[in-house]
Amino acid sequence: MGEEAGGRVALVTGSARGLGRAIAEALAEQGVSLMLVDILADRLEETRAALEAQGASCAAFATDISVRENCIAAVDATISAFGKLDILVNAAALMRFNHATDVPEDEFWRIMQVNAGAPFWFAQAAIPHLLESEGNIVNVLSQSALMGTSYIVPYSMSKAALMQLTKSLAVEYVDKPIRINGVAPGSMMTEISTGATLPEDVDFAKMKRYSGERPPADPAQVAAVVAFISSPKASNVHGAIWTADGGVTAG
Ligand SMILES: NC(=O)c1ccc[n+]([C@@H]2O[C@H](COP(=O)([O-])OP(=O)(O)OC[C@H]3O[C@@H](n4cnc5c(N)ncnc54)[C@H](O)[C@@H]3O)[C@@H](O)[C@H]2O)c1
Repeated sequence: MGEEAGGRVALVTGSARGLGRAIAEALAEQGVSLMLVDILADRLEETRAALEAQGASCAAFATDISVRENCIAAVDATISAFGKLDILVNAAALMRFNHATDVPEDEFWRIMQVNAGAPFWFAQAAIPHLLESEGNIVNVLSQSALMGTSYIVPYSMSKAALMQLTKSLAVEYVDKPIRINGVAPGSMMTEISTGATLPEDVDFAKMKRYSGERPPADPAQVAAVVAFISSPKASNVHGAIWTADGGVTAG
């Protein structure tokens, strides 16, 4: 693809903290300008200021991406701020541990909206701009897209949907100058995990199956994979799901 090495612009959702922030930092190191998107306005502002202090060109758009109009507005704001869009990274997500029989309806739908709905609406709004820039989309999946993961059934469902969004879009746009890929991380000690509460009576043996033998990754390790896939160096990578899970899904 004809992505230029310099002057690229990326929109990264979930970039107030955790992996999204690490992805923004890794892209900034490559000289990419950034539109940071998250619902946590204060944390987002902290991240924007820190990146700017490191010399990055960035803007922030605080919004709730569970609403379609907000996703479209975030893409529009990127075009207004930078005049183009080269990379869309869908990294925002919600996860809640629960027994499947106890998941409330509102929790189920919010997880679906944030983890699977928003990436679709972002892609819909971004694709015309990405076709113009010959850019790409990277969706952040999870090992939960590739294997059964107990006590997070809606999350696992949403990540499998995001994987199929990635592959189906890749096929639909196979004849166009755009790349669409997914990265599927394993465990990282970010706030999605450290801030989570477990329901009573969980069977830890069922969780051990997806916890892995190796220590949790540093978000920077996964961010490096995302930064590479979104770069011109990965110009032949399209429709791929790259794991970065320390071997968990290898079996
Ligand atoms: N941490 C792990 O073990 C792990 C494992 C596999 C995949 N992942 C994936 O990595 C990605 C980043 O997660 P993380 O680990 O950094 O966790 P995190 O909770 O620190 O980051 C998720 C971000 O998404 C944002 N977000 C949530 N709902 C939103 C909404 N409605 N509107 C806008 N922003 C919203 C949060 O505010 C947060 O900043 C997610 O897609 C997650 O599923 C994480």
